[in-house]
Amino acid sequence: MYTHLQRDVSRPPVTLATLARMKADKEKIACLTCYDASFAVLEDAADTDVVLVGDSLGMVVQGHNTTVPVSMDQMVYHTAAVARGLNRPFLIADLPFMSYPSQELALAHSVRLMQEGGAQMVKLESGGKQTEIVEFLTGHDIAVCAHLGLKPQSVHKTGGFRVQGRERDAAARLLDDARRLEAAGADLVLLECIPSALGRTITEQLHVPVIGIGAGPDTDGQILVVYDMLDITTGRKPRFVRNFMDGATNNLDALQRYVRAVKSREYPAPEHCF
Ligand code: KIV
Repeated sequence: MYTHLQRDVSRPPVTLATLARMKADKEKIACLTCYDASFAVLEDAADTDVVLVGDSLGMVVQGHNTTVPVSMDQMVYHTAAVARGLNRPFLIADLPFMSYPSQELALAHSVRLMQEGGAQMVKLESGGKQTEIVEFLTGHDIAVCAHLGLKPQSVHKTGGFRVQGRERDAAARLLDDARRLEAAGADLVLLECIPSALGRTITEQLHVPVIGIGAGPDTDGQILVVYDMLDITTGRKPRFVRNFMDGATNNLDALQRYVRAVKSREYPAPEHCF
């Protein structure tokens, strides 16, 4: 046991134990993506519980059509920038496309995100073969978030950005994957773009916290891409996005409105769900 050099003792850092307690107490977990230090400071000030350096940065920061071109060096660079702006939130970073094809590479790249980037957890798009990789990482005491449902790194294989798990078989497979990943040691599960009923079933069946994006109102927490909810991105937005700048006085106000709306269960509303 060592003494923590903590800057703001009135706001203890969010840990995995905090997130487990929030699930048990049915307190909703408010999460946002983040890509730089300035937004990190704002998201921290808004009391966001979890910040994700998502490979969505390939689309909303770099202007690509998919997340596939994002490199490991870029993820480390953005994670380190975000870490410098955070005090309270729990920091997750994405393992980008093809950075975890083997256990050894997954481990080496997770270590980079943690040591050079300052991440506390790594996220990987999971299911099937990735279960063994999750087991290997958690066996090395690396905290892992398993991403299921719509997996943007696989869009060229799956045929686009579509709602997943609508058919009975696909829903059963997703539930099975979620159970296997939890058994493999995943500490958090993220569900993207699935029907609300399936989001609820998976959340009820798992012991670890479940975060949703377009997965209905019953997951333990919600996450949005920060540029989407601040209406910075142009073009047609996914159904689950709400514009929190609407009625807000500035960016911090909009972020605070989001955190309040998640905690009070006002967001997501039926129009944001599948
Ligand atoms: O990359 C990302 O930002 C994500 C979110 C959509 C959850 O995975």
